[in-house]
Amino acid sequence: MDRDLSRFKQQAAWRAVEFVESGMVVGLGHGSTVAFALHRIARLLQEGQLRDVLGVPCSRQVEAEARRLDIPLTTLEEHPVVDLTIDGADEVDPDLNLIKGGGGALLREKIVAQASRREIIVVDESKLSPALGTRWPVPVEVVPFGWRSQAAYLESLGAEVTLRRGSDGTPFRTDQDNLILDCRFGPIPHPAELAARLDRRAGIVEHGLFLGLATDVIVAGDRGLQHLRSDKG
Ligand code: A5P
Repeated sequence: MDRDLSRFKQQAAWRAVEFVESGMVVGLGHGSTVAFALHRIARLLQEGQLRDVLGVPCSRQVEAEARRLDIPLTTLEEHPVVDLTIDGADEVDPDLNLIKGGGGALLREKIVAQASRREIIVVDESKLSPALGTRWPVPVEVVPFGWRSQAAYLESLGAEVTLRRGSDGTPFRTDQDNLILDCRFGPIPHPAELAARLDRRAGIVEHGLFLGLATDVIVAGDRGLQHLRSDKG
């Protein structure tokens, strides 16, 4: 990874960890930026600067990493309300709406985000965008049954659709064993309308439009750190 980019990701992640307090239930997002937060939380727990923090991982991969780092974990069954979640994003618009799911963990990430009192998104400045869809496709998680029908439906909405594949060339499978269709829409003028169309289609399990969920976005870049807050934050 580019050294500056890596430094920005670490700065954003470490700032977010300053909002973690002892005794909190903390959602642990997926991705290379949040990975810095995981290491930081683990270090603060080891040093005794944080105590009794319980993590709710947003993917199996994060769960394994958190276990490796000795971060105590819990589940939404045991703790249905999460005090604070730290997660990454692929694209952030001026209203703090997001595209997420570049790592394929969008369903669990959205479940945890909706269960969270506070959702802090950590990004480097390359993720800022004038309109969602400008830089990234919208990942759409679909059940394997009938997935080509969902691809056709998504094309009818104007997307160029690609079935996501793993590094071995086989279709990528999510933690729920579903497929991901990456949908390139270009700039999306009305994300809420698109989200509503995706929400009502059978076979679509979830999509990567995270609208009105981020309470805070911490952005790191050449000009230092910016802390953006939504009205709800
Ligand atoms: C995971 O599914 C995504 O939503 C990630 O949060 C997103 O891709 C950000 O990842 P990076 O921090 O690695 O850019």
